Amino acid sequence: MTTTAITTTESSEAAESSEATESYEEIIGRSGIDDVDEILAVVGPVATELVHEAEQGGVTRFTWDYRKDRTALEKLYSKAKRGQWNVETDLDWSIDVDRDKVSRHLLETMPQVRAFQEAAAGDRTCPMHGWSDDQFAELAWEYQTYGLSQFLHGEQGALVCTAKITEQVPWIEAKYYAATQVMDEARHVEVFDRYLTEKVRDSYVCNGHLLLLLDDIIRDDRWDMTYMGMQIMVEGLALASFGYLAAATEEPLLKKLLRYVMSDEARHVAFGVLSLKEAYAEMSAQELQERQEFAFEAGLRMRDRLFYQDMWERLGLSAREMLTWMRANPVENQIWQAALFSKIVPNLKKLGLLDAGDGWLRDRYTEMGIIAFEDFEDTATEFSRFDISSELAG
Ligand SMILES: [Fe+2]
Ligand SMILES: [Fe+2]
Repeated sequence: MTTTAITTTESSEAAESSEATESYEEIIGRSGIDDVDEILAVVGPVATELVHEAEQGGVTRFTWDYRKDRTALEKLYSKAKRGQWNVETDLDWSIDVDRDKVSRHLLETMPQVRAFQEAAAGDRTCPMHGWSDDQFAELAWEYQTYGLSQFLHGEQGALVCTAKITEQVPWIEAKYYAATQVMDEARHVEVFDRYLTEKVRDSYVCNGHLLLLLDDIIRDDRWDMTYMGMQIMVEGLALASFGYLAAATEEPLLKKLLRYVMSDEARHVAFGVLSLKEAYAEMSAQELQERQEFAFEAGLRMRDRLFYQDMWERLGLSAREMLTWMRANPVENQIWQAALFSKIVPNLKKLGLLDAGDGWLRDRYTEMGIIAFEDFEDTATEFSRFDISSELAG
């Protein structure tokens, strides 16, 4: 089986094989996971829509227990206070970004673009067959613009979700930490918006699959689901994406801002892992199964967002043709998409969700081709390597 080639039939059978588990229709609102029409039917906001309303679930919690017993969260809070940086003064915004130079370099260093170029050269059915190097350099630029735009919208999702966590989590240490994250996320929205506005001078609207996931995370009335959706899934994928883009780019402003954002994001994912480990330890098998199903749904939404369906038209291609070709030739998926789950899977394993119950989530992630990352380092262990607070203090 190819990396993410789960057919509708196989998926349905897999879902039906576990009687206790809801069907794919109930979990993700569609019959299978690979139908091109169903994927394309999910669209983002129209460009003129300036406000999106999402219904928020759950209740606000006060706690009168001000004792601080959760040492790991307390340490994280302390680190967060020392790690604050300033978009205006810690980055050099006088740096000019040369679009042609950046595009040509990204063509050499972005693995997903190289994979497309190599596949297109030998495949007449590929919609990019016959493209010139200049066209692939253009693709690299659009990939970066699209990715940065989704980072921007995802960061706003994180800003809103951590405000929700601050309100709803019952532990005082977590409220302290989440409050620092609200500030971190405001800074991230600010930095990506400024980079897109001043240096890229272009952007895309929020991807529909990402927005669907953000809506789900906000609508859920269980506080730990906001953690799982945002801290583990969305931020885990973002952390991996930032790492790949930071490695691919030579543009000094972007490289530095990504390193700074990653320092915050690694802490955020660690916050999720530490908090959920405690919450899950007390949950029933049924409750854990619901968390597994959510991890599957969120994983799928993020996979679907990585088809970049809103980008192809700008390059003169049909989204339907590209998606159909990508599903049949998962070249991009193998090299790039799966790797973006490299932070998520070990964290879910550490939380016990891969193997809870009958290992339902392990089976789903095996089909999605991302289980190989299960023994990568988890973020609660590795996060301090990303820390920039000593650099800021100096
Ligand atoms: Fe962020
Ligand atoms: Fe974050």
